[in-house]
Amino acid sequence: MTPLHEVIINKKTKINPIWIMRQAGRYLPEFREIRRLNPNFINLCLNESLSAEITLQPLKRFDFDAAIIFSDILMLPYGLNQKVEFKKNFGPILENLNIKNMSKLDEIDFVKKIYPVYKAIKKVSDNSLVKNKNTIGFVGAPWTLLVYMINLQSPKRNLKKDFFDDKFLINRILLILEKFLKIHIKNQIENGANIIQIFDSWAGLLDEKDLPNYIYTPTLNLVDFTKKLGVPVICFPREIKNYKEFCEIVKPDAIGIDYNIDPKKIINGIQIPVQGGLNPKILLTDKETIKKEAIKYLDLFKDHPYIFNLGHGVLPETNPEMVDYLVKTVKSY
Ligand code: CP3
Repeated sequence: MTPLHEVIINKKTKINPIWIMRQAGRYLPEFREIRRLNPNFINLCLNESLSAEITLQPLKRFDFDAAIIFSDILMLPYGLNQKVEFKKNFGPILENLNIKNMSKLDEIDFVKKIYPVYKAIKKVSDNSLVKNKNTIGFVGAPWTLLVYMINLQSPKRNLKKDFFDDKFLINRILLILEKFLKIHIKNQIENGANIIQIFDSWAGLLDEKDLPNYIYTPTLNLVDFTKKLGVPVICFPREIKNYKEFCEIVKPDAIGIDYNIDPKKIINGIQIPVQGGLNPKILLTDKETIKKEAIKYLDLFKDHPYIFNLGHGVLPETNPEMVDYLVKTVKSY
């Protein structure tokens, strides 16, 4: 069995597999080189050979236990015909969405538009570098995608004041998202993804009273759908106010935690396998600090099924040598 499945399905506590969020990305010079030659990020995600190559780059360097497919959560609105662009030093920019056209879109058109993503997953999962390892497919959670589709850019700290004004529109978008996220998950699994991670990067923006409507119900539907396909699902509801409540209601197979939550609170309240937590900024310090901080998590979770990861994506300014050191520290624990 693959290492992540051992932890998630068999609840093994004596192994600590490791992968890191954004492991295929800008901290690697070989990624930056490909990126320089491919200034259009969406087109890069639609280039199956390059996407597969980028996905495998970190596995060539480090002893990671999983490959996460090089793509983006915003390929979903792109597939729904809402234009997405990535501006340098700014982030994503989306065009206003056209709900009338979006409502008419069918499965075939959507799959056709992002088909290279699935072909890239197939390439990766067939590669010998991921033999006995996991291929992680992923989606953005409905809430986080809704945020981008209405806000049209990263919300940074706050949502626009009028964000919730058109509840009718919001509910229509959520229904469309549920339909196409299921299609997206199913296609990733059919092409070799054997774990699905649901990224809810903006879960922390919501008041508690809004969680059932925007997070719990729509995410639970996706979790149930994925489980029925026989593939474990990891949820990462970043900065959610109450991880315990989230786990009890949504019941993912494993929970990813961010670096702002005290891991002691997690260990005392949560029974399911846990992933991540280490602050990505630790990788910008020195080896001694990295070792100390990594061991803090490993010690704390030594009798709990635990997948080592960061509490958010690896920072672009990270020295790859420090990533190598982290992997070795975890592996030799
Ligand atoms: O983890 C991996 O290595 C797999 C690939 C992956 C990317 N994005 C590639 C990417 C994954 C899993 C994502 C998820 C994603 N994308 C999230 C959820 C996780 C999180 O970071 O909170 C979100 C919110 C997005 C949307 C997005 N994509 C933003 C806000 C940005 C710009 C800011 C940033 O971090 O760069 C992107 C661009 C993006 N996605 C890059 C990469 C490697 C950088 C592109 C570049 O400029 O080279």
